[in-house]
Amino acid sequence: MVKKRAKKSDNGRPMTPSEAEDLYGIHRWGAGYFAVGEDGHLRVHPTKEPELWVDLYQVVEKLRRKNNAPPVILRFPQIVGTQVRLLHEAFQKSIAEFEYEGAYRGVFPIKVNQMEPFISELVRVGKPWGYGLEAGTKPELAVALSAGLKQGSLIICNGYKDRAYVELALSGNVLGYDVVLIVEKYYELDLILKCARRMGVRPMLGFRLKVAARGTGKWERSGGTASKFGLTTAEILKAVDVCTEKGYADCIKLLHFHIGSQITDVRRIKQGVREGARFYALLRQKGCTSLEYMDCGGGLGVDYDGSRTASDSSCNYSLREYANDVVYTVKELCDESGVPVPNLVTESGRAVSAYHCLAVFGVEEQQTIAAPVEVPEITEGFDRCIQELAATARDVGPKNFAECYHDVVQRIEEMHALFNLGRLSLEERAAGENLVKKALVDIVYYAKVSGRRIPEEIEQLEKDIAQKYVCNMSIFQLMPDLWALGQLFPIAPIHRLDERPDEWTTLVDITCDSDGKIDKFGDVREDADALRLHKLRKEPYYLGAFLLGAYQDVMGDFHNMLGETKEAIVLAAGPGEPELYPVKVKCQRTGEVLELFGHRNKDMRARFDAAIERARNQGETDRATLKGTERAFDRVLAGTPYLS
Ligand SMILES: Cc1ncc(COP(=O)(O)O)c(C=O)c1O
Repeated sequence: MVKKRAKKSDNGRPMTPSEAEDLYGIHRWGAGYFAVGEDGHLRVHPTKEPELWVDLYQVVEKLRRKNNAPPVILRFPQIVGTQVRLLHEAFQKSIAEFEYEGAYRGVFPIKVNQMEPFISELVRVGKPWGYGLEAGTKPELAVALSAGLKQGSLIICNGYKDRAYVELALSGNVLGYDVVLIVEKYYELDLILKCARRMGVRPMLGFRLKVAARGTGKWERSGGTASKFGLTTAEILKAVDVCTEKGYADCIKLLHFHIGSQITDVRRIKQGVREGARFYALLRQKGCTSLEYMDCGGGLGVDYDGSRTASDSSCNYSLREYANDVVYTVKELCDESGVPVPNLVTESGRAVSAYHCLAVFGVEEQQTIAAPVEVPEITEGFDRCIQELAATARDVGPKNFAECYHDVVQRIEEMHALFNLGRLSLEERAAGENLVKKALVDIVYYAKVSGRRIPEEIEQLEKDIAQKYVCNMSIFQLMPDLWALGQLFPIAPIHRLDERPDEWTTLVDITCDSDGKIDKFGDVREDADALRLHKLRKEPYYLGAFLLGAYQDVMGDFHNMLGETKEAIVLAAGPGEPELYPVKVKCQRTGEVLELFGHRNKDMRARFDAAIERARNQGETDRATLKGTERAFDRVLAGTPYLS
């Protein structure tokens, strides 16, 4: 009889689902979409209903069996539906609670996720709510107008505009959409009015305010008086006068402001809304009675690290609190000023799209400089520098680790200088490098056990020597905001969650770039420098990076020509594996990526063939070997740029 292998852990006890969820913060950042099953697999509950789930590991295994091994992006359209519903329900509840007499008319900013499967699902599920779209450029406007929105849906046109942009927007009004042209720069007003007159269309005009309120965190500079967009108070007054003079006063429909993305602190939201509502009320009092919308822009935050604080990758409020604050603040101000409340618009992007998309990638290998190294016997014949290094490496202890560290740094420089001068042999350099490794590992060890304050440079050293898991993916492609802005994304294994992990690791990707690493992880207490993962075995080990659905798709780049990863759309139709099915798999081949950068596969092949021909003519290589080179070239172009 085959004995079932007991799961080993540091204290001999397997990990329970709730312990695993706690360890990786899954129930904190997962918003009810993710949970751990008894089998240690990560589950996705795309509607948040307990009985409707898919097993991520099984999805990945299914894909792998069909030759679609990770890295892979998985999209969950049902999560899009759930988020759209929750957003609208939150506003409806707040509107009912505060007896607000206006409506909520949400729009989704296309720049946050412009992928066709996402937009088509968003439009489909948004129909009952009259959910609209926001465009910031001509391509985005083209998408908005051809997305199949319900007639009467709002389409908000932000961004810099030329004549073609304005004419297309006005055509949208002709087709029965409520297309609002937002005047972001004062000079745009003249362009819009001229086009409207020429086309005989009554435009819907919006003015973007340059509010003094600013968001928080990484996108703080999007708001404030120095922000790139928006009209000053004087420009707004002038714009109202111009519209009145030219017979377009009744076309002023909307006031818009946007104080920044990912607003981490709820107080900043209230400040922005209060300022925007004050503008609205004063303009109504001045006679702008056609004003019917107030658009609070984006900024609704996502709690990426699960800490529910105002830290950069989190936010200290819920969706319901956000809706309450917007509705209550606008109502309070309008009541005080004796003007009717506006219909409310938000352009929440990240909060709607972030959850629906995740990436799974495999860990290829473990790298560590802390692994035991062989140190040869250092004899009298070795250079003095190596002998002194050996003495330092031998003497490291809890009291002198800082001193030893400085000693080692000095010896490294000396060793390199001596080698370049030709005074060290290869054997001496090899012994020296191993002594350095041993000394550094001991320094970090004694620094930690000493209980003393750890100097900054040794803290850095600890990170540098921490073991690294090499992951088959590109951070630049999958999580550009992590690299560019230091934003945290939740990361966790998608299986083996019933085993207690005991390896502290950082992650590196397969790009040849030292920035291709993850060494900050969300934690409720503080950001952690390492992630606790499982020991690698002779079988695939998969990690998931979550909440990637906002901004990452389009910002992802092709560093090292690692192209777009495969994608699958996953639907849950019942509890567990038999009901789940991937419906679309896409894979960008190496040849396709090369074409993107102007390397025409046909021309490449012709030049490669010429090199084969040259080798054949030189007569030193046999036919079979040459045939092999041809096959190797074709195989790479037809295959994935990632490790397979
Ligand atoms: C004008 C405008 N609206 C909406 C958004 C979307 O913001 P978020 O994704 O934070 O909701 C942005 C993004 O910065 C924006 O610039």
